[in-house]
Amino acid sequence: MFFDKKNITENGYKQLFDEAFPNMSEEERYSRKGASFAISAYLRSIVTSEAPFQKWLKGDKTAMTDEEKRGALLFFGKLNCKSCHNQQNLGSMQFAALGLKDLYENGGLKTSVKDRRNLGRGGFTGKAEDMYKFRVPQLYNLGDSGPYFHGSSKQTLEDVVDYFNNGIQENYNVPASQISNFLRPLGMTKQEKSDLTTFLRTGLRDPNLKRYVPETVISKMCFPNNDQKSKEDMGCN
Ligand code: HEC
Repeated sequence: MFFDKKNITENGYKQLFDEAFPNMSEEERYSRKGASFAISAYLRSIVTSEAPFQKWLKGDKTAMTDEEKRGALLFFGKLNCKSCHNQQNLGSMQFAALGLKDLYENGGLKTSVKDRRNLGRGGFTGKAEDMYKFRVPQLYNLGDSGPYFHGSSKQTLEDVVDYFNNGIQENYNVPASQISNFLRPLGMTKQEKSDLTTFLRTGLRDPNLKRYVPETVISKMCFPNNDQKSKEDMGCN
């Protein structure tokens, strides 16, 4: 990423950084580190809250279609996906191995068969019990942002649901003893697969995330580029 300290210290942002990060040294504050903290804080503010399932939870019993409701019943009931996906964002701090292929097998740049990250949590802790286990991810607004799983091995939500339904590991570097016993054939019908996919795709989709996109930047340059050249090129005087 292109980083120019002037983007922080000029154009009106210095004061905001000073207020946000008073405990950081100035050297750190106006650096990539300060910028990454600011971007992370912004990303954490993007919270889905208007998905049909969320509206339904708030009491709007008309918010979900019948298909989405049937999918939700499978997710929380019969299939018990919620044994892992059980926090507000339908992720959790649990870690599990599902035997998925790694990024180097799917075109990941600068990754390889020896990459420590293939070991998931185990790559950080070095503990045998953590090997090949990945954090249970959140499940909102997934339909817009494939591919899926840590190694991007599935292109569509249909493929993800098929993987769970077939219940057969695709990465044999992962010892069977590490793999979650959830990974087993689920025996879903075609209709059930379709209902579950619909719940994931539209039941858990907040259609209005654009509300988080700022309309202006405080320097009055052109959103989203806070620099003079873009202002000239994009012509937002
Ligand atoms: C044993 C815990 C566990 C259970 C049960 C479970 N999942 Fe997951 N799920 C995970 C983990 C861990 C990942 C990430 C795996 C990886 O990338 O290696 C994941 C990933 C996913 C993803 C991909 C998300 C993304 O951003 O790539 C979807 C979709 C998903 N699960 C849906 C389901 C559904 C539907 C069920 C029920 C059929 C289910 N999960 C049951 C642990 C679980």
